[in-house]
Amino acid sequence: AARPVTVTVTGAAGQIAYGLLFRIASGAMLGADTPVRLRLLEIPAAVGSLEGVAMELEDGAFPLLSSIDISDDPWVGFDGANVALLVGARPRTAGMERGDLLAANGPIFTDQGAAINASAAADVKVLVVGNPANTNAFIAMSNAPDVPAERFTALTRLDHNRAIAQLAKKTGVAGTDFRRVAIWGNHSATQYPDISHVTVAGRPAVEVINDQNWVVNDFIPTVQQRGTAIIKARGASSAASAASAAIDHIRDWARGSAAGDWVSMAVPSDGSYGVPEGLISSFPVTCANGEYSIVQGLDVDEFSRGRIDISVAELEGERDAVIDLGFAKRV
Ligand code: NAI
Repeated sequence: AARPVTVTVTGAAGQIAYGLLFRIASGAMLGADTPVRLRLLEIPAAVGSLEGVAMELEDGAFPLLSSIDISDDPWVGFDGANVALLVGARPRTAGMERGDLLAANGPIFTDQGAAINASAAADVKVLVVGNPANTNAFIAMSNAPDVPAERFTALTRLDHNRAIAQLAKKTGVAGTDFRRVAIWGNHSATQYPDISHVTVAGRPAVEVINDQNWVVNDFIPTVQQRGTAIIKARGASSAASAASAAIDHIRDWARGSAAGDWVSMAVPSDGSYGVPEGLISSFPVTCANGEYSIVQGLDVDEFSRGRIDISVAELEGERDAVIDLGFAKRV
């Protein structure tokens, strides 16, 4: 039998984790051939509730779930982690500005980065879901100098999946027929969902749709604002869809993305497409052999360039703010 993979999940008593843990245990993330050890991390006040979630996981009688450990100490929770899903974060509360949110999350991701550095497995793959996800990932990466920087990623797969859903709705074509969607930039309202390279059943999507007004004034803002629309409708932030996207992100990273297609991941820039090196920004990527590569050589037209630059400028502002707050060093 395969050796169990250790998966650490923070915010494990929260909404997203409730959608995530049972799918990890079922094999949806790492495959039906891979047993998992779950290490669940919470703040002390939520440990009681987390014990209830662990009881439910036991009651799932998942054949692949080899153990469950609970902790409120990141120095324990990341021990031996092969996959670390950083879902827990301080939410934005009424009256909080973006700067306050960065300041509230800084210490969490500073500690977790240091704990990953000290105790995770040598092959650890990190996915930050907790918002502001890109910059939280940047902080964690900055505090884990011994872990290769490229192992720190943030979730924009939900935005990617949302873009596909809107394209499918607009055209009446199944989502599975769309290839080469790309999300660029920050997981925020400035993100740029890019359909300029998309094909639908082999034809360019821009030709099939033939409605640039829809792309600019409907599609892009709908994807950018989808999280807000869900909060309004549901009275709570998207949870099951975020969990599903996190599963997609790690599954593809670990087991490879589909041939002929791309996925979107926020990853440390290597300078591609003029995105400053080290900034954790979303790119179209392909995954193979447990590694991702940023898709190279794409034509970026003037419209796309402007949209990417807006989101990257926002990320640079967040990066500078957390450096000024002392959570990361300038590189
Ligand atoms: P939630 O509030 O239901 O759960 C968060 C959990 O994290 C809570 O149980 C809390 O106790 C825990 N937590 C807080 N600080 C922690 C720490 N230092 N260590 C361990 N656990 C800690 O929130 P939900 O709905 O599960 O969302 C989690 C995060 O994901 C939020 O920041 C949310 O904004 C973000 N999100 C990101 C998306 C993305 O696409 N990147 C999409 C949707 C949500």
